[in-house]
Amino acid sequence: MRIFPLSLWLVGLLLGSIATNALSLYSTMFDDDDGDLCPAEICDEQLMNPAAIRHYSSEAKRPTRTTRRLTNAMRLALGLPLNPPKSRRADARPQVSPVPQTTYEGLIEVRNLTDSSSLGYISFRQRASGVFRIRPEVEHALIVTFSLDVGATFGSGIGFEMNNADGPLLGLVQGRENNGSDLSSGSANYLYFNGIGLPGSPPGSVPTELPNTFTLRTGEPRTAESSVWTVDLVTGQLSVVWTNSDGKPATPIHTWVQFNFLYAGGNPDLYQDLFPIYPLSLISLHFVPQTPS
Ligand SMILES: *[C@@H]1O[C@H](CO)[C@@H](O)[C@H](O)[C@H]1NC(C)=O
Ligand SMILES: *[C@@H]1O[C@H](CO)[C@@H](O)[C@H](O)[C@H]1NC(C)=O
Repeated sequence: MRIFPLSLWLVGLLLGSIATNALSLYSTMFDDDDGDLCPAEICDEQLMNPAAIRHYSSEAKRPTRTTRRLTNAMRLALGLPLNPPKSRRADARPQVSPVPQTTYEGLIEVRNLTDSSSLGYISFRQRASGVFRIRPEVEHALIVTFSLDVGATFGSGIGFEMNNADGPLLGLVQGRENNGSDLSSGSANYLYFNGIGLPGSPPGSVPTELPNTFTLRTGEPRTAESSVWTVDLVTGQLSVVWTNSDGKPATPIHTWVQFNFLYAGGNPDLYQDLFPIYPLSLISLHFVPQTPS
């Protein structure tokens, strides 16, 4: 065995302690409490080591968005000064729209499609691979903002920005076991809800390798799309659209949870055949507006 000189050993010790600190920070932000039995799609992921992730993500992350933004209600409860008046974030939209826009902020409630019961909210506490999960507690809810033309109550091809999770865009990323990027009723291919870096992709864009949290944390290249949301402010209904590589929207598209993690895909039964141990539940997504902060 080779003996390192003392100085190298000291450097190693220092790096080791930095990595340990990175790991403890890391474990407070993500939920990976599978227990011994891992019964779902989510369990087979291979993560890169936390030190590598830290290095990797410090290059890719947008430096201005390191702290979690609190709503004014939370700030009042904590005795903190209120947020400055909100300016529209032009950087979230690659093209400047000439039409004035209204920005909405709120949570995404998840309901069981079978019995319409509420399952909670999409949570800011993600899997280490950035895959989003649901949790019942409103304090753990992801906060999203998006913009519609002034007066509009409906929009499609909308980008969602997250206030309290990395991305900062909330979009769709190709599943780990996919063959290709296209969804159809004859394919088990599926998508993750995942963070995507700015500027994201324009509406109707074909699957593209955008910077995304899954790729950042696993090192596996995956295609993604970010302007995928359809919003109906009258009913509160939210849905997603995935554009296949031929430029056409994939139909049908279903959304479901397995082991509390969120997926979209063209055929939930074929997905279930591929990951059979834990049952999936079809879901619907609903916007819960918050008082603008
Ligand atoms: C959704 O509702 C069905 C029917 O009540 C139930 O069997 C299933 O377990 C529910 N799913 C979840 C995730 O609670
Ligand atoms: C991809 O193809 C392999 C080999 O045919 C198959 O085992 C796997 O289930 C396929 N994955 C999906 C998501 O269809």
